[in-house]
Parts: sequence; C-alpha cells; structure tokens
Amino acid sequence: MTIHELQNEILCLKKENDVCILAHSYQAHEIQEIADYTGDSFGLSVQAAKAEQKTIVMCGVNFMAETVKILSPEKTVILANSEAGCPMAEQMDKDIISAVKRQYPGYAVVAYINTTAELKTICDACVTSSSAVKIVKNLPDKKILFVPDCNLGDYIAKQIPEKTFKLLSGGCPTHARISVSDVKKAKAAHPDALLLVHPECKPDVVALADFIGSTTGIMEFARKSEYKKFIIGTEISIAESLSYELPDKHFYPLSKDLVCHNMKVTTLMDVYRAVQGCGKEIILPENVIRDARKCIDRMIELG
Ligand code: 13P
Ligand code: SF4
Repeated sequence: MTIHELQNEILCLKKENDVCILAHSYQAHEIQEIADYTGDSFGLSVQAAKAEQKTIVMCGVNFMAETVKILSPEKTVILANSEAGCPMAEQMDKDIISAVKRQYPGYAVVAYINTTAELKTICDACVTSSSAVKIVKNLPDKKILFVPDCNLGDYIAKQIPEKTFKLLSGGCPTHARISVSDVKKAKAAHPDALLLVHPECKPDVVALADFIGSTTGIMEFARKSEYKKFIIGTEISIAESLSYELPDKHFYPLSKDLVCHNMKVTTLMDVYRAVQGCGKEIILPENVIRDARKCIDRMIELG
C-alpha cells in the first residue's frame, strides 16, 4: 500500500468504527493529515472532552492518552503505539512528590500536564505550556511547588515575581538538549531570522528568544508575524509543518537534534491498527480518574 492508500483506508475505518483520531503537532506529517484534530497538549485535552465518537485514538505519548481517559472515562481510549512514553513524565512519581510535599507544607503543587495520571492525583492544579502563566497567576496560593520541568517552572516564575516557587530538577530531554552555542550557530547562519522557542528549553536559551511560547503559540506567532524567516526552537516537526502551511516564509530548526523520538515512534501503520482496536487501551482505576480529574478540571477552569 502507498502512504496515500493507507491514509484513505484509515479514514474509512475511522468512520466505520466511530473513532476520533487526535494527534499532537510533533507527530509525523502523514499522521497529522488524517487526524480529526492536531494541536498542543492543551488543545488535545480540550478536544478530548468534546469528541463525540465512542473511541479515541491518541497519536502522541502515554500521558496524553491518560488525560483523554480521565476526561472521557466512558470512552475507549487507545494509544496508537504502546511504546510512546514521555521521559519527562516518567521522571517523578507519586511517592517522590508526596515526600517533597511533606518538606514544603503550605505550597500548592502545580503539575505540568506531562506527568502520570497517578502523580496528578496528589497535585492541586495542572498546567500546559500554553496556559501555565495564566493558571498559576489565577491560583490563590502564593507558594508554588512546580513539577517536574524546572525550565518551564523557571519561565513561569520569572513572569510571576510576586509568588514564591520551589522547582525540582526534571525536564524534557529533547528541549533541554539545546544550548546557547546552538543558538549562536543558528543565528550566525540566519542573522535576519526571529528566534521562537518553547519554554521547555533552558533559561539561557529562552533568554535569547524573540518569542517564547507553546507549540501552538509558536505556530500562531509565525502565522501572524510580518517577518519572513524564523528559527524554530521546538520539536523539528513544527518547522516542517509551518513550511508546508506558509510556503512564502522560511523556517529553520534551531538544531537538527530537536527530535522527540518518543513522539516519532508512532507510525501510520500503528494508526491503521489502532482504528481497528489494536494498540494500548488505557485502563485507569476509578479513584485515579476521580482524583486526577480534579487537577485537570482546575486547569480547564483557570485557563
Ligand atoms: P505543548 O504541547 O504544550 O507545547 O508541550 C510540548 C511537549 O513537549 C509535549 O510533549
Ligand atoms: Fe516528553 Fe519532551 Fe517528547 Fe514532549 S517533547 S513528549 S516533553 S520528551
């Protein structure tokens, strides 16, 4: 089968089997083309709550599929490739954070959505990169324990100097890999391009950016900007998608190492199998769904 034939098969099967396909923007282009919705972590969670189909196939990583299950427990939720985990989400678990919480009484625990469902059960609110500053500002608490991404935490803390933050040393291996020397090289190669970066990058990289935003934030900025050239400091698929969408503009990945191998493990063939019921079905205990939901609902309410 050609890619195009496989895509058509998937589109027919998804209709027949009442399936909604959600794909994160870091997925391969041929997967994004057949998805009902593509977007960043926040957008995917909003769409998951709205989807009318009885089955949702998540083309993304495990925590994203768990979020869908928490928001729509009555639906069958399938992670298209069972190997697709997020290393950042696996860095900290419920036991570690429970122990840290005991050391910091009086702190509200705010979790990046890139955490396990189990860890969310003991957190006060959840955030995505696009909604983090707004949500943390809107929380009544003045002391925030932010987990697990210290780079995103540092970015939020700088926007909200009136609050006190405790950060731990977690982070995204893909974004944290980028250094100031990568920025210097990219700027030397493209001196008239704007630098757009994701706040999961290190603070010294973020400090050199012309714009800081989530996946969707970066895409929106590039669409609206009058500039023609951009260095893209987030997963490499975003530079690729933007160049297809805006062919009169130029997008240069900040580094060729900006690849999330966990996002890229999912293939179109996995999606073909998933719309037929294969893949990893997400099963969560009722109490985990109930308690993690409070933290996600708070995100939707405050964001
Ligand atoms: P956003 O989708 O919120 O931009 O986060 C990026 C990411 O690393 C997803 O895993
Ligand atoms: Fe996890 Fe980073 Fe990959 Fe996102 S880009 S899934 S945070 S490893």
